[in-house]
Amino acid sequence: MPLTVQPSSATQTSRATSFAKQALQVLKAWMKQPTQVATICPSSPFLTENIAERECVRCASSVVELGPGAGGTTSALLSQMRPDSRLLAIEKTAAFMDALQEITDPRLTPLIGDAADLIELLERNQIGRPDVIVSGVPFSSLSPSVAKAIVESVYEVLKPGGTFIAYQVRSDIDDYARPLFGPPHAKLIPLNLPPLTVFTWQKLEASNASNAD
Ligand SMILES: C[S@@+](CC[C@H](N)C(=O)[O-])C[C@H]1O[C@@H](n2cnc3c(N)ncnc32)[C@H](O)[C@@H]1O
Repeated sequence: MPLTVQPSSATQTSRATSFAKQALQVLKAWMKQPTQVATICPSSPFLTENIAERECVRCASSVVELGPGAGGTTSALLSQMRPDSRLLAIEKTAAFMDALQEITDPRLTPLIGDAADLIELLERNQIGRPDVIVSGVPFSSLSPSVAKAIVESVYEVLKPGGTFIAYQVRSDIDDYARPLFGPPHAKLIPLNLPPLTVFTWQKLEASNASNAD
C-alpha cells in the first residue's frame, strides 16, 4: 500500500500563519496601489504548486520571477529548485520588499524594479539567460505598448528551449506572447482567489527556430 506523508500539525499551523501574514501585506499594498498590485489575496497553494512543481523548474539553473508580491510563488519555486540554482525576483511595489527579504535563501535575489527593465536588471545581476521566467505582472492593466515590450524582452532573454509561465485573470497576454512563442498551454485554476489561468509557452530551441523560418 503506498505511503503518503501528511504534513504535521505544526507545519500546517506555520503555513497558515505565513499565509495570513502574506494576506495582510497584499491587502495593505493593494489599498495603496490597486491597479499595480492587481490582487487582494496571495496566491493559493493550488496556483503556487501548479507553477512550481514542474520539471523545467526542478532542472533550471536560473529562474526569473516578475511580480513576486509577498513571496508565495517565490517560496514555492525555491522549494523545487536545485541547490545550486538562482532565482531573481523583480517586484515593482516597494511595500513587498520586507516580505521578500524575510525569505532567507541564498539562491534568492529579491529586488525592487520594473519588469519593463528586465534586460538591464539581468545584466546588472549577472544572471545570464534564464531557463524559466514566471510572471504574475497584470498585463491587462498595462498599456499595450508596455505589455508588448515586456513580453518581447522575456522572449529575447529566455534561453532557447526555456519556459515562460504567466498566471493571469484575463487573456490579454496571449495577444502579445502568441506571435513570438506560438499558442500556449492554458490551465484554469478555479480554486484560486480570483480564479485565473496559467499560460505556459516554450521558446523553440535555436535549431527548431531556424527550421521554422
Ligand atoms: C498577482 S500579484 C503577484 C502575486 C504573488 N506572486 C503571490 O504569490 O501572491 C502581481 C504582482 O506584480 C507586481 N507588478 C505589477 N507590475 C509590475 C511590473 N511592471 N514589474 C514588476 N512587478 C510588477 C505587483 O506589485 C504584484 O505584486
